[in-house]
Amino acid sequence: MTIIRPFLRATVLLLMVYFLTLGLGSDAQPTYLYHNCPNTTYTPNSTYQSNLRILLSSLSSNATVGNGFYNLTTGRDPNIVYGLYMCRGDVTNDTCGNCVETASKEILDRCPEEKVATTWYDECMLRFSNQSIFSILQESPGLSMWNTQNVSDPSGTFNQLVADTMNSLATRAASGQSRMKFATGEANFTGFQTLYSLVQCTPDLSASDCNRCLRGAIDALPSCCSGKRGGRVIRTSCNLRYEIYRFYGVEATSPAPSPIPLPPTPVFFHIPTIPVNALHLCFGSQNYTSGGQFETNLKHLFNSLYTKGPPSRFNTTISGETPDRVYGLVQCDPTSSEEDCRSYVNASSIEIVQKCPNRKQAVLRNDNCYLRYSDSSFFSQVDASPRLYAWPLKNVSDPLVFSQQLGALMDNLSTTAASSQIKYATGITNFTVFEKIYGLLQCTRDLSVRDCYLCLREIIGNIPTCCNGRAGGNVLSVSCNLRYEIYPFFEILSPPPPSPLEASPPPPQIEGDQNTNKTENGKFVLWANSDKDFISINGS
Ligand SMILES: *[C@@H]1O[C@H](CO)[C@@H](O)[C@H](O)[C@H]1NC(C)=O
Ligand SMILES: *[C@@H]1O[C@H](CO)[C@@H](O)[C@H](O)[C@H]1NC(C)=O
Ligand SMILES: *[C@@H]1O[C@H](CO)[C@@H](O)[C@H](O)[C@H]1NC(C)=O
Ligand SMILES: *[C@@H]1O[C@H](CO)[C@@H](O)[C@H](O)[C@H]1NC(C)=O
Ligand SMILES: *[C@@H]1O[C@H](CO)[C@@H](O)[C@H](O)[C@H]1NC(C)=O
Ligand SMILES: *[C@@H]1O[C@H](CO)[C@@H](O)[C@H](O)[C@H]1NC(C)=O
Ligand SMILES: *[C@@H]1O[C@H](CO)[C@@H](O)[C@H](O)[C@H]1NC(C)=O
Ligand SMILES: *[C@@H]1O[C@H](CO)[C@@H](O)[C@H](O)[C@H]1NC(C)=O
Ligand SMILES: *[C@@H]1O[C@H](CO)[C@@H](O)[C@H](O)[C@H]1NC(C)=O
Ligand SMILES: *[C@@H]1O[C@H](CO)[C@@H](O)[C@H](O)[C@H]1NC(C)=O
Ligand SMILES: *[C@@H]1O[C@H](CO)[C@@H](O)[C@H](O)[C@H]1NC(C)=O
Ligand SMILES: *[C@@H]1O[C@H](CO)[C@@H](O)[C@H](O)[C@H]1NC(C)=O
Repeated sequence: MTIIRPFLRATVLLLMVYFLTLGLGSDAQPTYLYHNCPNTTYTPNSTYQSNLRILLSSLSSNATVGNGFYNLTTGRDPNIVYGLYMCRGDVTNDTCGNCVETASKEILDRCPEEKVATTWYDECMLRFSNQSIFSILQESPGLSMWNTQNVSDPSGTFNQLVADTMNSLATRAASGQSRMKFATGEANFTGFQTLYSLVQCTPDLSASDCNRCLRGAIDALPSCCSGKRGGRVIRTSCNLRYEIYRFYGVEATSPAPSPIPLPPTPVFFHIPTIPVNALHLCFGSQNYTSGGQFETNLKHLFNSLYTKGPPSRFNTTISGETPDRVYGLVQCDPTSSEEDCRSYVNASSIEIVQKCPNRKQAVLRNDNCYLRYSDSSFFSQVDASPRLYAWPLKNVSDPLVFSQQLGALMDNLSTTAASSQIKYATGITNFTVFEKIYGLLQCTRDLSVRDCYLCLREIIGNIPTCCNGRAGGNVLSVSCNLRYEIYPFFEILSPPPPSPLEASPPPPQIEGDQNTNKTENGKFVLWANSDKDFISINGS
């Protein structure tokens, strides 16, 4: 218990908003979390300073050769400087190098003239001191972070699952070699949600010190992160994290695109527009005045999207100058023709103005077309909070098999959609001998592979909330959406070289569901939330 007391004693000293949506690719900037430097100043232009500069540049230049960990000393007593970095066990050499390079620069800005400092990023940590730090267990300073959203956990098993997973990972990591003490694991939470966990110690620790550090961190979980969708306990010598989306190894696994299996001959399904798939949101604290410059720019924007959007069914544009500048994005159903896309864009531009009169920010989404504009840039930014659920009243015959099959289909499609250029995937899976499940997942195309994947995992995790046991479901957010049914509702994308069969006689119509008005036999709810992590820091 003495291990965790210092951690608990210092309650929330600092609350910061941390967005979990920053990119993680090797070119991307590392995601800064926190730094700590106690008041231990050195004299400017002293030997200590020059030794420290040498240390940081050596760490930085050795950052791609160290297998994720490197320790170093520079100088002689009394101006000796000890330093080390550790990268997260799954990141590539490039990402590691990039993170250490950034950390060694930024720490000098954040802790100028400090003899002792530690800084943490998502991808790496770096520290230096005037005392030896190698192979010494150090728990403080540290921090904990959690997602403010609670996990939906009717059975009350989530915390136990987290603790069990962490305990088994701690044992695995502690017994790891002197090169790396790192372990990750996945555990089924519900049919749709997987718990992803990670633990890591600096590899210079002994097995028993690593174990001790991680057990202390696990003991601190209930006080920060009980019932939360994601949590981290970060200490100087070790750290742990869990989420309900894959946050490690994404670079290595997701970009391998698995093509959508296509039937030998293209199949077409003609499906009516189902009104319940429509979502519009009007944002912005300010309204524009009719006849003003903003309105003029908005009209130009719509014209420009009308011209630029249809050829590749997607485009973005910016119109006018600040303070009346407008940013816009349009995206059509990728199976639509260029001509159809043009008419959808036109119709959507009219509808969005009717639905959100004089609003400076708006989004309109329906089956055919997505249109969004704003007075500030939103490109490549993800908003995954589910805004609309819809489901049919019909129940499925075998909910257990259904959710297993659906879960597997959603897993598969989330990876495929995120890594595809058009950020779209459809798929079919068997349910009963007579029934199949048809699924569609999609993101706006400006999102990165990782952000699209995270957005989709977020809304997939909401399937049990809306649609448990139902024979269909829709979850719509601003940046992505999903839909599944036990009947075909999408067109299969034709393969790139158009087959002559495409021009053949009108494809068969699918019977049933043609004219179903989903608002009559289904329900929908609207809700909005924000999904941010809060950070609490313990003093040192
Ligand atoms: C840091 O320590 C120095 C000397 O001990 C003192 O003058 C200074 O006020 C301290 N700064 C802070 C921020 O505590
Ligand atoms: C490290 O620096 C601190 C603050 O200046 C000092 O109190 C401490 O004695 C130094 N430790 C060593 C080993 O030099
Ligand atoms: C440290 O050196 C820089 C340039 O070498 C000089 O501009 C600065 O005045 C010096 N600072 C002190 C406190 O000597
Ligand atoms: C790595 O660190 C050593 C010091 O241990 C330094 O001499 C060397 O220059 C660094 N390597 C590179 C590639 O800079
Ligand atoms: C990273 O660098 C180390 C040392 O050069 C090398 O052994 C390792 O294979 C590299 N890893 C990757 C993924 O390139
Ligand atoms: C790194 O740490 C190990 C373990 O404490 C130590 O044996 C080694 O000398 C250190 N390396 C350097 C360059 O100081
Ligand atoms: C999460 O659950 C806690 C405890 O049950 C509750 O106090 C809190 O309001 C919930 N937070 C959210 C965002 O639902
Ligand atoms: C999770 O469940 C799926 C099917 O429901 C199964 O295939 C998979 O092996 C399970 N994974 C774990 C880690 O238990
Ligand atoms: C903007 O317009 C909406 C709807 O027309 C209205 O509800 C809102 O109060 C207006 N906001 C401002 C700041 O005028
Ligand atoms: C957007 O439109 C411009 C101009 O028509 C075109 O050059 C660009 O390739 C389009 N972008 C995409 C992603 O299609
Ligand atoms: C689905 O069921 C059909 C007929 O029972 C079978 O031929 C097919 O292989 C199954 N597909 C999958 C992916 O299991
Ligand atoms: C669908 O149902 C809604 C609500 O009952 C109704 O207002 C609408 O006209 C219906 N649409 C069609 C196409 O029947």
